[in-house]
Amino acid sequence: MFPAGVTIDPKTGAVSPNTGTYTKHLSELRSIYHDGAEFDARLARQGDAVAYTVIEYREPGADIFFGTTTMSPGRIGDEYFMTRGHFHERPDRGEIYYTQSGEGVLLMQSRQGEMRSVEMKPGVCAFIPPDWAHRSINTGEQPLIFVWCCNQDAGHDYDVIVTRGMRQIVVERSGAVAYLPNPKFAAGN
Ligand code: F6R
Ligand code: ZN
Repeated sequence: MFPAGVTIDPKTGAVSPNTGTYTKHLSELRSIYHDGAEFDARLARQGDAVAYTVIEYREPGADIFFGTTTMSPGRIGDEYFMTRGHFHERPDRGEIYYTQSGEGVLLMQSRQGEMRSVEMKPGVCAFIPPDWAHRSINTGEQPLIFVWCCNQDAGHDYDVIVTRGMRQIVVERSGAVAYLPNPKFAAGN
């Protein structure tokens, strides 16, 4: 294994060289939005769209890896575009998100259900503690682009968030960003 310099374009999220990429379309994300009828209406009206793209740089056998996430701006009804959100499988693995362009919110939820958020804007590097679920939300008019870095063995647990949602949703209210209780959050936690 050898040191490497990897170029990251803060305006496009391009990573060069990179070792993998995937794209999530809106149509794959229906269950994460609180208003299914608004979701269906938007897709019928405007068609499917790229919600976000993830590009990674990984050295096999290394402890850490890093990459970018590039999120389109937009809303489903009043709810801003967001990532699926996840816990790491390993409860002792945190992460950082360092915003390059755009503006948004990093919404985090502890295993006990405590909520915190950190503003995402260029220059802010967010610390995600181990065992806090994390979801990024694009609250701006431009793409939200951030660099993330975590352990390769962190793993992703999507089930909890996809099944139950997070406790809060982030919506637009009179032109401002508002945090509301998630009407879909399953009872009993
Ligand atoms: C990795 C990490 C990010 C996200 C990416 C997409 O641990 O947190 O690379 O995976 O921003 O979000 P999700 O994975 O929630 O769809
Ligand atoms: Zn993560």
